Amino acid sequence: MTASSKITITRPDDWHLHVRDGNYLSSVLGDTAKRFARAVIMPNLSDPITSTDLASEYRDRIINALPAEYKLSFDPLMTLYLTNRTKASEIKKARESGFVHAVKWYPAGATTNSDKGVSDIVACYDVLETMAEEDMPLLVHGEVTDPTVDVFDREKVFIEQFLEAIIKNFPTLKIVFEHITTEQAVSLVESASDNVAATITAHHMLLNRNALFKGGIRPHHYCLPVLKRESHRKALVKAATSGNKKFFLGTDSAPHTRASKENACGCAGIYTSHGGIEFYAEIFDKADALDKLEAFASFHGPDFYGLPRNKDKITLARKKTEIADTITFGDETCVPLRAGGHLNWSID
Ligand code: DOR
Ligand code: ZN
Repeated sequence: MTASSKITITRPDDWHLHVRDGNYLSSVLGDTAKRFARAVIMPNLSDPITSTDLASEYRDRIINALPAEYKLSFDPLMTLYLTNRTKASEIKKARESGFVHAVKWYPAGATTNSDKGVSDIVACYDVLETMAEEDMPLLVHGEVTDPTVDVFDREKVFIEQFLEAIIKNFPTLKIVFEHITTEQAVSLVESASDNVAATITAHHMLLNRNALFKGGIRPHHYCLPVLKRESHRKALVKAATSGNKKFFLGTDSAPHTRASKENACGCAGIYTSHGGIEFYAEIFDKADALDKLEAFASFHGPDFYGLPRNKDKITLARKKTEIADTITFGDETCVPLRAGGHLNWSID
């Protein structure tokens, strides 16, 4: 049993984050910049970030929206949104930019703002070839979109129908299987080459699918991929706390307005940036693996992306902090994970 009530680690990075745009962006960005030195910014705006030029403009908006104290310390790592029309030349331009670090593959229709995503990945094979040549990682939302496939099986079926073939056909392509939720995803990543890694969210390690229906329907626990059964949650905690360099931190914090979540057709996404590192400390503490937190949160990600590790440190303490019922989100509100409850670990 780890008795320590404080832990100092190299400042972490968030390798999967949604910050939206406009005044929504300025409402949430401070929570991330307070904790993390860098974050991989997802490109699924309502007008997706499909080019290096759009990524450059979005990056400027993010930097402008940063609270003054983080303007020099926080670096947004930009991504492009893959479409059926993405050209190999755009990948080269992205690589040359120095600020685009990956390309995100959303199967069309899989999740929020994915309609303009990829409907036929085979048609993108020439682009994937260029990405492998340019050492540009492919970030994968790994769920099939076939409505006849059970929603809880969509990640497993995606592995069988798509991911195994991509890994085989592009052995030198770096692939991040994003926000994995199943033991099948853990096994795939463990058995693949070092070019294949995965991010794991805090919410998929804190909650299982019962949280969606506790006493009634719980829209603030709805995300995609959807929460899975307990055995999968346990497999994720085991992978994250194993020390295996293929697994690293990606919050997938995905804010939506309260009204769009508490809705007859509620949006997918859970806001967790208010406890972006603290929730992970709680998970690792409970698993008796606090000694593995630093590598998962601060080393494995930059090592995979070929970026330097951060130099400064943060200290976390086993101390309760209240979580607000809502946060301001643009002109509206957003309900954060564990609203009205507590963070059990806090930044010291
Ligand atoms: O829950 C999710 N929310 N999953 C995604 O893949 C997208 C994200 C969002 O952008 O809201
Ligand atoms: Zn996401």
